[in-house]
Formats: sequence, structure tokens, C-alpha cells
Amino acid sequence: MPLRPDLIDILRNEAAPIVILTGAGISKESGLHTFRDPDGIWAKYDISEVATPDAFIANPDLVHHFYNDRRAGLLDPAVQPNAAHLALAKLEAEWPGDVLLVTQNIDDLHGRAGSQNLIHMHGELQKIRCTHCDLLTDWRDDLTKETRCPSCSKSGGLRPHVVWFGEMPLEMERIYAALGSCGLFISIGTSGNVYPAAGFVQIAHEEGAAETVELNLEPSSGATLFDHSAYGAATDLVPKFVAALLKTSD
Ligand code: APR
Repeated sequence: MPLRPDLIDILRNEAAPIVILTGAGISKESGLHTFRDPDGIWAKYDISEVATPDAFIANPDLVHHFYNDRRAGLLDPAVQPNAAHLALAKLEAEWPGDVLLVTQNIDDLHGRAGSQNLIHMHGELQKIRCTHCDLLTDWRDDLTKETRCPSCSKSGGLRPHVVWFGEMPLEMERIYAALGSCGLFISIGTSGNVYPAAGFVQIAHEEGAAETVELNLEPSSGATLFDHSAYGAATDLVPKFVAALLKTSD
């Protein structure tokens, strides 16, 4: 167990606020691809062609195709929240202090698992927005450049509500405030390659004086920045770690 039982007791007694950061690794065992593993999304697609504002201007058809495929993939009945998503929802429900879950994932698996205090810092695959009228709405179908906005009726302005490279992640003020006052920061299933998320561990450590824990399949790029770590599959590690925090059996 990455945290000693006496440390867990102190955190429980203080009702220490927890901030959790998740990445694509937590959804891998639900059947969704990560980005940087050998079979990951960036092995098949070039980031600069599908995940930047310039890509959307240059080739909107390709960008829509990329996100349409992934949006449709989320509707596959085989894609369900796994034991790691469920354990984090349980932690939020049962921990004596605040639990904020910040995910880089644009899938909806944390929400489906029951997490409520949840920030999708890189947006959500099942939402779109209109660059003409600023409508933000749920969307499960395919999107094309001909699709008309349900609010202003103009076509060509609808885009996935996702944060592309070069754009500002969402709700950063709220995230930084929580990192600065948390007692425990847990990073799960992220390679630590993309900022600002990759820098959260240092903020939690320096400003929040938090204990910091990495749970990942393998050491991430920022592994040495964490006080504690455990390596293995999220569906194994996360329920065990949550059970230790809650003093229940997993
Ligand atoms: N359990 C735990 N961790 C796993 C598992 C698993 N079953 N499978 C893979 N991992 C780990 C990998 O070892 C890797 O360190 O998950 C991490 C996934 O890393 P990335 O593919 O880089 O995904 P992520 O860190 O979420 O990427 C960050 O990059 O391109 C973007 O916007 C995209 O939000 C994404 C961001």
C-alpha cells in the first residue's frame, strides 16, 4: 500500500481535502485507448492533424471524423465504468472531507460511475459548442461541417467541446484553488506528459503541503515528484487504495 496506515489515520482525522487527477489509463480497462501507449491514439493519428485549432480550420472533415469515431465508441454497450471509476465515486461519497476529481479524459465514465464533484479539464466528447452563438449542448450523434446549430441555425461553427493543444484547459482557477489547499493528491493513469495537468503534483506538494501519490501502470514522466507510488492496473490498484483510505475491504 503506497500510504502508511498512520498517515491515512492522520488524513482521515483531519478530514483532509483530496484532489484526484485521472488520465486515459483509468479508462483503458473499460475498452478505451490511451494516447501514448504503443497501441494508443497518437500512434494512429498525428496530433497536429486532429487536435489543434489549426487542424480544424485546415481539415474540419478529418477532425469531425476523428471525434465522431470516438463519440460513437462511447455508446458501445461494452464500454462501461470499471472498478477504478466506481471506487473513486465511493471515495467521494464516503471520505470525511472534500474530494475533487479532475479528469483529463473526455469520456463520461467517471460521471456514469457516480462521481459528482468532477471537472473535465479537457472538455467532454458528448458535448458540442457553437462558435457562432456560444451554445453549449449535449450531443451524441455524428457532427459534420454541414450540421446546423440547434440554436442559431448556422452551419460550420459547431465543434466538439474538447480542449485542443494550444487552448486553455477548463476551470483552472477552481482546480488551482483545490490543489493549493488539499492534504492528499492522487494521480491515476496519466503519463505526465501534458501540462498544466503534469504540474499539479508540484502545486499540491508546494502550496497544499499535500501527500502525493501516483497510481499508474508504470512510472510516469513525473514519477520522481511523488512522495508515494504503486504500479499496476488501475482496476486492481485503485479499489485497494480506496479501501485502505476508507478502512473497508475492497
Ligand atoms: N491502469 C493504469 N494505468 C494505465 C493502464 C491501466 N490499465 N493502462 C495504461 N496506463 C497508463 C500508461 O502507462 C500511461 O502512463 O496510463 C498512462 C496513459 O498516458 P497517456 O496515453 O499519455 O494519457 P494521458 O496522460 O491521459 O494524456 C494526457 O494527452 O493527448 C492528450 O488530451 C489528451 O488528455 C490527454 C492528455
